[in-house]
Amino acid sequence: MRKILETDVQAYINSLLPARDALLGEMERYAERHDVPIVGPACARVLFQLARSIKARRVFELGSAIGYSTLWFARAVGPRGTVFYTDTDPANARRAEEYLRRAGVLRRVRILVGDALGMLKATPGQFDVIFNDVNKVQYPAVLRLAPARVRPGGIFVTDNVLWSGWVARAPARGDNDTRAIQEFNRKLYRSKELFTTVVPLRDGLAVSLKSAP
Ligand SMILES: C[S@@+](CC[C@H](N)C(=O)[O-])C[C@H]1O[C@@H](n2cnc3c(N)ncnc32)[C@H](O)[C@@H]1O
Repeated sequence: MRKILETDVQAYINSLLPARDALLGEMERYAERHDVPIVGPACARVLFQLARSIKARRVFELGSAIGYSTLWFARAVGPRGTVFYTDTDPANARRAEEYLRRAGVLRRVRILVGDALGMLKATPGQFDVIFNDVNKVQYPAVLRLAPARVRPGGIFVTDNVLWSGWVARAPARGDNDTRAIQEFNRKLYRSKELFTTVVPLRDGLAVSLKSAP
């Protein structure tokens, strides 16, 4: 991956991060060893901070893998909150379930296996936070679906919006991921109901505040 921030700047930010607990550390090492593309601690702190700052109780994740971002959200929402975990891969879901059980937060997480967009459609109600981290070609479809499900004053947040910097260039023929993210970013910034900022940490995190009524 081409780095968005200069390598030494990213390393400097990482050096400031307080050590995570043993379980998060174990998940980070597992992700590193098995190439699981988790948000990582610098961005996970943003997710936690956003959720806490709006007192989020209901969070829906689109694409949860081994449950790393899920665990940060589960801690942010507290014992009375609910985080919806989604992934197409049952092996990921089993691993996530085990980590979340060990973290003592499994009761506040609903584990849903299958297509995240379908799961979101099938889950009634509004959410304080929706976190989008599915396959990149699906980002335009997520944008058509998810913001309407965020409560006014809630947050829609999306990972990988800078896509190793590829979004700043004309996409190569057949590079449907870059094309989809570019379309997503354009429409996200143009949206009348969302107020968006891209935080250029790691691979780029788009934070969109849904207008209050
Ligand atoms: C980038 S990883 C998620 C990482 C996780 N959000 C974290 O930061 O800890 C993306 C995950 O989404 C899953 N995925 C991709 N497209 C999906 C879809 N349409 N529905 C459900 N899961 C999907 C993949 O199996 C993969 O595990």
